[in-house]
Amino acid sequence: MIINIAIDGPAGAGKSTIAKRASKELGFIYVDTGALYRTVGLNVLRQGKDTKNPDDVIPTLEGVDISLRFVNGEQRVFLGEEDVSEAIRQNEVSMAASNVSAIPAVREFLFSLQRDIAEKNNCIMDGRDIGTVVLPDAKIKIFLTASARARADRRYKELVEKGQDVDYDSILADIEQRDYQDSHREIAPLKQADDAVLVDTTELDLEGSIEYMLRVIKERL
Ligand code: DC
Repeated sequence: MIINIAIDGPAGAGKSTIAKRASKELGFIYVDTGALYRTVGLNVLRQGKDTKNPDDVIPTLEGVDISLRFVNGEQRVFLGEEDVSEAIRQNEVSMAASNVSAIPAVREFLFSLQRDIAEKNNCIMDGRDIGTVVLPDAKIKIFLTASARARADRRYKELVEKGQDVDYDSILADIEQRDYQDSHREIAPLKQADDAVLVDTTELDLEGSIEYMLRVIKERL
């Protein structure tokens, strides 16, 4: 029997790092659905269009080929034959992804792609609406969160370690704006599913968060 684990939560809560480690441990594939919204956003930006305007965004979906491929268990995301896994991590693509994700046609477009993967694979899938909309019957649902400040601190440290010149206040403002947009949109907003377990990592470091999450999962498998 196929087992699906849904992990939702706000930007910067550590979903991808934690889910990646947990999936390795369980031998599941890890599916990062944010990469799909990012790829739609990247494609719109590349065409010089407005990521907030449905009349600009919807035509870009026509005939576009977005796919996830798994190489040695690692997810790569493709726009046509181009591997855009790195390109979608640019800062401006984050807000573009959040903008396009509020458009119902974009969510519909990406829905079956996500469902097909989950039907065929034991997976941990992370996003904003996985437990509520995409996989309402997932065996385990986790809502992973941390305070906006804790998330901004982590992001700030990560970027400083990479040698980037960054401003803490603008990182915090970006996180707060994305939280607001993602949880206030009309369609499939970010929210904890009724049957999801809340995992708050505000007071935990990465290793502590992974341990906590694995415990929650193993108790329920
Ligand atoms: O997880 P992420 O930060 O890479 O996601 C980028 C944006 O995509 C996020 O701000 C909201 C949107 N998103 C979504 O609406 N639903 C998902 N399942 C995943 C991401």
